[in-house]
Amino acid sequence: MSELNKVVMGNAAREFDVSANTLLDLRKNFTKELEEGLADPSKSSLKILPSFLTTPTGDETGTYLALDFGGTNVRVLKVKIWKHGNYKILKKVEFPLKMEGKYDFIGKNATGEGLFDFITKLIELSLDGNTEDEILLGHTFSFPSEQLDLANAKLISWTKEFQTQGVEGVNVTELLSKSLLKRNLTNVKPVAVINDTVATLLAGAYTHANTLIGSIYATGHNTCYLEPNYNGEPMIINLESGGFSKVEQNTYDKLLDKTSEKPGEQFLEKMVSGRYVGELYSLVVKQALSSEENFAFDSLDLCNIAQSVDVKKIVKEKAGYDIQDKEEEELFIKLATNIMNRSASLISATFLGIYYHIRKLPTIAVDGSLYVKNRFLQNIIDENLKKAGGNIRSFKVDDGSALGAAIAAAMAEGKM
Ligand code: GLC
Repeated sequence: MSELNKVVMGNAAREFDVSANTLLDLRKNFTKELEEGLADPSKSSLKILPSFLTTPTGDETGTYLALDFGGTNVRVLKVKIWKHGNYKILKKVEFPLKMEGKYDFIGKNATGEGLFDFITKLIELSLDGNTEDEILLGHTFSFPSEQLDLANAKLISWTKEFQTQGVEGVNVTELLSKSLLKRNLTNVKPVAVINDTVATLLAGAYTHANTLIGSIYATGHNTCYLEPNYNGEPMIINLESGGFSKVEQNTYDKLLDKTSEKPGEQFLEKMVSGRYVGELYSLVVKQALSSEENFAFDSLDLCNIAQSVDVKKIVKEKAGYDIQDKEEEELFIKLATNIMNRSASLISATFLGIYYHIRKLPTIAVDGSLYVKNRFLQNIIDENLKKAGGNIRSFKVDDGSALGAAIAAAMAEGKM
């Protein structure tokens, strides 16, 4: 193993440093793109995707199935909700969508039919043999989708490196319904399909008044908000903010984008989210060690290294390199700190971008492993929000995707 090139490490850390000016520009550009997008969606890198929902009243009650599909694991939950944030998970079935050497429902050889047949098997497991009693299903589908109505949505394009064939451009509720029919699960009624940011906003608003923004900080990153005036009425809008492109990429962002599944797309997401931060770190370390190998650093490693936890152990494990001295250790820590600080800071600037559009101090509901599990990232976000003055704050929503799906199903029921 070659020596560590300290100059490469130091320079790279500086490339990830984010200045107050950059954050201010991003915030302003975000408001501008949002307003341009509302006037004409084709003019913006933000997608303006109406959800056909507004925030809940808090009176939604009942027992529903929640299908949570958006990351490497798919979950089906039976959720009971009863007023203002009270809920209980009665049953949970969870499986990975890919098991090395066994099956893969998200790779390029997978098909939509195979994927939804697999999901339907999990739905069946969650029913405990009850194929008689009607149960409404809310589906949290965490990809950019064009909503046809509350129950139906077409996948626009995969993100987060998903590649399954035959789903882009297709109504995912039809795919799900076909699979349910094949297994004779006609008692399961898919009545709502929503983005995970929308689920988070619904779940947040169910408990905290004034929740106007919902965001995910996990494998992927995205934000939605309650637009007070969408064609004259309030509407939750999914922005697919991971696709925001008015943000300056550094050398490593460009390198990562080039080798990603969809070059030229999801600029912001590739700079901030859990699927990519480890890869950015790996690109630098690979260069600093003059290695040909891609190292499997992940977001958890970066959060640990940034907090000086197990630095030597992680670097040895993931890059096979023995850190020689304190100076080298500091370089690894600095790089992780700057990548994660940039990630959380860029996200907070987008929240402020929404605030400067709605001009109402919002409470921001956030779900996702990076946010939920890392106090230091929550602090960076809150510090940045504070700088804007006023009482804007973020809070974490547990089980947001599942709870939101159940609330959406209850809201659909009220409308049917
Ligand atoms: C990706 C998806 C988006 C989702 C986010 C978080 O950005 O495109 O729909 O909300 O990941 O899961």
